[in-house]
Amino acid sequence: MAKEREHIVDEPEESVLTEVESVNSDVPVLEARNLYHIYGSNQEDGNVVALRGLSVSIDAGEVVAVVGPSGSGKSTLLKAFGGLMKPSAGSVFLNGQNMTRITGQDLVRLRQDTVSFIFQEGNLLPDLNALDNVAQPLRHAGVRAREARRRAMEMLDSLGIADRARSLPSTLSGGEAQRVAIGRALITDPKIILADEPTGALDPISGRRIIDLFRDLNEKRGVAFLIVTHSKEISSFANRALELRDGRFIAQHGNDVDDEDLASTRELLIDDTGTMSLPPDVLATLGGPGRFEINDLDRDNIYLERVLSERITVEGNVQMILAPVCPACAFDYADSSDEECPSCGSSRPMVSSS
Ligand SMILES: Nc1ncnc2c1ncn2[C@@H]1O[C@H](COP(=O)(O)OP(=O)(O)O)[C@@H](O)[C@H]1O
Ligand SMILES: [Mg+2]
Repeated sequence: MAKEREHIVDEPEESVLTEVESVNSDVPVLEARNLYHIYGSNQEDGNVVALRGLSVSIDAGEVVAVVGPSGSGKSTLLKAFGGLMKPSAGSVFLNGQNMTRITGQDLVRLRQDTVSFIFQEGNLLPDLNALDNVAQPLRHAGVRAREARRRAMEMLDSLGIADRARSLPSTLSGGEAQRVAIGRALITDPKIILADEPTGALDPISGRRIIDLFRDLNEKRGVAFLIVTHSKEISSFANRALELRDGRFIAQHGNDVDDEDLASTRELLIDDTGTMSLPPDVLATLGGPGRFEINDLDRDNIYLERVLSERITVEGNVQMILAPVCPACAFDYADSSDEECPSCGSSRPMVSSS
């Protein structure tokens, strides 16, 4: 197994809650430029490049979904965006401030004022009851215990779980625990919530309630969201969905995307190094890898055509298609264009058609 070598940003013992700065809606709430992250490893399998030149900009109040197979770098990018981990290269701006440049108290304060996290599970401190879990970020920011508890109680009330205030996390249902986690995330009045598969561990009904809550928070309080998700419901409420593959964004989907017909509604992203990666189903439709010539090119427009006489396949004219069955669990994909096995979660590879 690759050795963990993340740079966890130190939190000072004490800190003071600053007044929430007025939202400057001209400045993106989160902007990442050319992020790279390499996990070092002692093993022979070498280093893992988890992010490869990733850039994104999220406006105040925007909801962005991130979709992609497991191992594509979703959790890594979320940690880098929220300052839980220093990326190997590149910059992250929170509310216009370059987070990768500042340290110590300034960094803590910027994060406190701007960003909160919700993970799939394990968001709560097991020894604190629901009320104290929600109050804790305020305590951490220097608010007195009584005041912190009062505000936490209001928060639990607004989330419809005031009756669970004295319960320990182990006695809460999955949906209740996730509501408490949302309370914890909201209590510092963040401008953006970064959520890593927040409904992944929940049953469909609890998941639906969490999504409704996110939507409400977005509409009523203008909180921006970046949500890593497999849920089509979340993707459909997002303003746009970014598709991550091998550490870079390869495509963007607009609102109301029909998941059954991704190929025709995609916008393909070309990054600032000039690299474009094609989603596997687009590559399959195109007829697989090969050599292409530029038939027409001008500003904002490129037209490619395959050089048919020179296929660069190794043996004969091998056509690549999306694997018809999952190599891990033998799930039959039938006619679907899923890129991740709905049964076991494995990434769907390309295979030769013969
Ligand atoms: N702590 C770590 N040390 C080494 N490699 C890691 C670590 N965390 C993640 N990786 C690797 O980085 C890549 C991206 O992982 P991750 O961001 O967790 O992807 P996702 O959340 O999309 O499943 C994977 O190849 C994974 O094995
Ligand atoms: Mg992950």
